[in-house]
Amino acid sequence: MRNIVCFVTLIILSSSFGCKKNEPISAVTKSLDERVEELISQMTLEEKVGQMAQVERGALKNISDIKTYYLGSLLSGGGSSPANNVPSSWADMYDGYQAVALQTRLKIPLIYGIDAVHGHNNVKGAVIFPHNIGLGCTRNPDLVQKAMNVVAQEVAGTGIDWTFAPCIAVPRDERWGRTYEGFGETPELQSMMAPAAVKGFQGKLSGSNDEILACVKHFVGDGGTMGGDDQGNTQLSEEDLRAIHLPGYIEAIKQGVGSVMVSYSSWNNIKLHGHKYLITDVLKTELGFKGFVVSDWAAIDQLTADYPTNIQIAINAGIDMVMVPINYEYFINELKKLVTAGKVPMTRIDDAVRRILRIKLQMGLFEKPYTDRSYTSSIGSTEHRAVARECVRQSLVLLRNTDSTLPLKKSLARIHVAGKNADNIGNQCGGWTISWQGSSGNITTGTTILQAIKQTVSPSTVVTFSLEGTGAAGANVGIVVVGETPYAEGVGDNNFLTLSTEDQNAISTMKAAGIPVVVILISGRPLIINSSLSQADAFVAAWLPGTEGNGVTDLLFGDYNFLGKLSHTWPRSIQQVPINYGDTNYDPLFAYGFGLTY
Ligand code: GLC
Repeated sequence: MRNIVCFVTLIILSSSFGCKKNEPISAVTKSLDERVEELISQMTLEEKVGQMAQVERGALKNISDIKTYYLGSLLSGGGSSPANNVPSSWADMYDGYQAVALQTRLKIPLIYGIDAVHGHNNVKGAVIFPHNIGLGCTRNPDLVQKAMNVVAQEVAGTGIDWTFAPCIAVPRDERWGRTYEGFGETPELQSMMAPAAVKGFQGKLSGSNDEILACVKHFVGDGGTMGGDDQGNTQLSEEDLRAIHLPGYIEAIKQGVGSVMVSYSSWNNIKLHGHKYLITDVLKTELGFKGFVVSDWAAIDQLTADYPTNIQIAINAGIDMVMVPINYEYFINELKKLVTAGKVPMTRIDDAVRRILRIKLQMGLFEKPYTDRSYTSSIGSTEHRAVARECVRQSLVLLRNTDSTLPLKKSLARIHVAGKNADNIGNQCGGWTISWQGSSGNITTGTTILQAIKQTVSPSTVVTFSLEGTGAAGANVGIVVVGETPYAEGVGDNNFLTLSTEDQNAISTMKAAGIPVVVILISGRPLIINSSLSQADAFVAAWLPGTEGNGVTDLLFGDYNFLGKLSHTWPRSIQQVPINYGDTNYDPLFAYGFGLTY
């Protein structure tokens, strides 16, 4: 019977789709859209609504719920790792979830998302890259693409299919705790880096095993909130919203980005998660976005006091997948009721499921649902670390270098090092590292700046260290590594942007020794540095460089030259903030695009 059906199908298809006659049946492959329509036509409401639910892996009451509720997606929120945080455990975990999904009637595979925002940063031993604020200073989209392809390989090595990256926020007020997640303060940088990052993650999104789905976020205007308040209100004309915050989305869509995440923030006091005009009329219709739109973490809960109403508003606004992520039974049951009651049209459900299935099919998830373990061993590899080291080199910005203090000789008799960020891999990496907020200390494999200095200098050079800067007298040069400790999202909102007293004292103590002082600032944004700058003979903005601290010493000792140009305007005082390239009366400490070289 099967053969007759196949034969008839062949005739119908070949006649109606222009296939050559008598092609072997295997050559008459259904198009992507045909496969999507075939699935949609078979799916129950339960199966459709399940595809639209994304659940935090840690919230699963039972792994069998993946099957029971036909879940379309799982995620690992920041720090949501298997008990044994090693690559093989991640891959085993992913494959375990996927196996349950494939027990469903239609065997629709899961798509699993994670915040790989500066490397596969939840995974111990993964290479941690500079955060985007540093990558913006490279002005090198080819390098960013190369870096994101390395990240894609490390993510794929754990089975995971989808990163909630790149964040293409255009942070306009550095008091915002997420400033470091964007490439910089201009649409120029957003437009330059968004497509490069998408291409690095996705390639052609044609099922190659080193391709993962990218997700440009957070749509739209997240970086424009008043006062830099996280999840706040962006008060702008539509013309300015489009001019400042939209260009990168247009370029990402041209590059074929497969998902977009909506912003918690509001535009002129209307929450983005309920904004049908921006999500459906602009993003999907005007800009022609064909992928799927995902909400942020429990973001629809913020719309009104009534959750079912929130679901109705969000889905009808054009959100296709909801990062629930905890109470998934409630979400699923309420959405089914809304459809049955006609409050969410089936056409909207079908559009959402169509978008999700098309991406899963395009990525080859149906054919290859499990981890390609050939990439697992690449996680943390020497080759991958070399790419991250190059990113560090090209991201650092030299702000001051009086009397050519830099580059340093490798044969100096003694170098004295100080500062809380000199020997602290956690501080060097910043937020979104191993845990959601990141943390100080020896949290993962990498090279601190102090370790890199010791590895770089000649055997005869003495390298000494003191946190506070004491003991510097007699050294040839002092290097003080100061700045911020890790934070993420609103936890990082800060209305002062000053260096800590501890940091300022370390610089002053080093200066008092009467030796040349090199200050290295580890931070997720420009800080108010005037007094410290005046005490420094050389001053380097290193941003959040990640695990490859030797990228810093490559420049300090002159093996490479500084290339980095500021991705943000550097304010003279907090009173100047927000201050951005293109403002009238523009009188910053250092202008957007500034950067010295040797
Ligand atoms: C967070 C962030 C978003 C992230 C998501 C999942 O709250 O806003 O950038 O992708 O939740 O971790």
